[in-house]
Amino acid sequence: MRTRRDNKDLAFVEINDGSCLANLQLVIAGDLLSSDAFKAVATGAAVRAVGALEPSEGQGQKWDFRVREIEVVAPSGPDFPLQKKRHSDEYLREIAHLRPRTNKFGAMFRLRSECAFALHSFMRERLFFQVHTPIVTGNDCEGAGELFRVSAAESPAGAGAEGTSPSPGALGPYDAFFGKEATLAVSGQLEAELLAMGLGRVYSFGPAFRAENSNTPRHMAEFWMLEPEAAFFDLADDMSLAEEMVQDVLGFLLENRLRDLELFDRFVSKGLIESLGAIKSRKFARISYKEAIKALSEAKGVKFAFPVHYGADLKTEHERFLSESYARGPVFVHDYPKELKPFYMRLNDDGETVAAMDLLAPRIGELIGGSQREERLDALEARLKELGLRAENYWWYLDSRRWGGAPHAGFGLGFERLLMLISGLGNIRDVIPFPRTPGNLEF
Ligand code: 4AD
Ligand code: MG
Repeated sequence: MRTRRDNKDLAFVEINDGSCLANLQLVIAGDLLSSDAFKAVATGAAVRAVGALEPSEGQGQKWDFRVREIEVVAPSGPDFPLQKKRHSDEYLREIAHLRPRTNKFGAMFRLRSECAFALHSFMRERLFFQVHTPIVTGNDCEGAGELFRVSAAESPAGAGAEGTSPSPGALGPYDAFFGKEATLAVSGQLEAELLAMGLGRVYSFGPAFRAENSNTPRHMAEFWMLEPEAAFFDLADDMSLAEEMVQDVLGFLLENRLRDLELFDRFVSKGLIESLGAIKSRKFARISYKEAIKALSEAKGVKFAFPVHYGADLKTEHERFLSESYARGPVFVHDYPKELKPFYMRLNDDGETVAAMDLLAPRIGELIGGSQREERLDALEARLKELGLRAENYWWYLDSRRWGGAPHAGFGLGFERLLMLISGLGNIRDVIPFPRTPGNLEF
């Protein structure tokens, strides 16, 4: 039950089952008005009503439900925190256990579900197989060291004691379970690459974990990522796939979830639907990192907090400038200096840049990061060495280049960043039911 309005000889009760934004209006009259059952119909309660649908005489709804019998199935107490008024996103975050019952978060989480569905069907149409990559892993794909360690709560009896672990003395009790240090995956990419070498086109869609201690509106410790990986794709194919994926999903939601999107257009970001329509139908710009640096250094009337020069990493302020002011829409920045990117990206012929691409979107900054992968064994070994990474830790990854394999490319799409784009919400904590950020582990 969402709200009730009691008049002298008629009462209106709005109920909602979560399937869509619109409520159903119950009309209560006669003896029912003074019944104990009806008195107990409080905001938040679950009710069962028997009666008939009738064309509504009132404004704002097509149908009314004229009630013959009413019963409270699960009562609600007084002081239910979600009374009929607008609450701030910050407050609703504190009651994340109740916010799915609001219009806004109901719409958000329906969009989230539909968006995931649209992504899966896009991948399937493009003949990609879904693969499940491990969540507990022994590799740091991105090499950024933002790892969460995994251990058994109590080390098994005897394990880790001298003589029982694979390399006695080297491992503490935390590492005993797997016999080596275990972490939560920051990405499923390396394993997806192996599967692509067997199945051609694959994608994984699952949670990723990063212990980056940055409290920003765009980062979480646990987020969801869709990662396609395709044999015989080069960087240009990779960008086209990313562009078509984003456009396809926006098209699906505009067609199938317009009511929910309208709520965000009205209350969160005016003009949202129009801007999504524009992203859906206009080609995304493509510029090299070099061109991006040039555009940023020539930017008039903007002062960046972080200085811009060739070799500098792009910060959110730069990314937003490039998409919002320079390209006026989503823009791919490609071919970054190798120093800015992980070991697995394919070295370009200039010996300095790698075949990387980031898709930058208005309001969001980086939405997608990807690359063509280094398929040449000698080049890959040289890069590991250059970075001081131990080849023996990557023996299986190197093996995948040792016996055939194929040139290939892939990317990672931040699912919550996409949902921020779609909803217009400015804080990533509001597009996932129960956000995990530094200092927050409630619910
Ligand atoms: O750019 P990233 O780090 O790329 C990878 O992990 C590659 N292994 C992907 C691949 O090529 N298969 O992350 C990909 C995307 C980012 O563009 C961003 O949208 C999102 O994941 N992302 C985060 N989203 C929320 N919170 C965080 N802490 C995020 N870190 C990355
Ligand atoms: Mg990235």
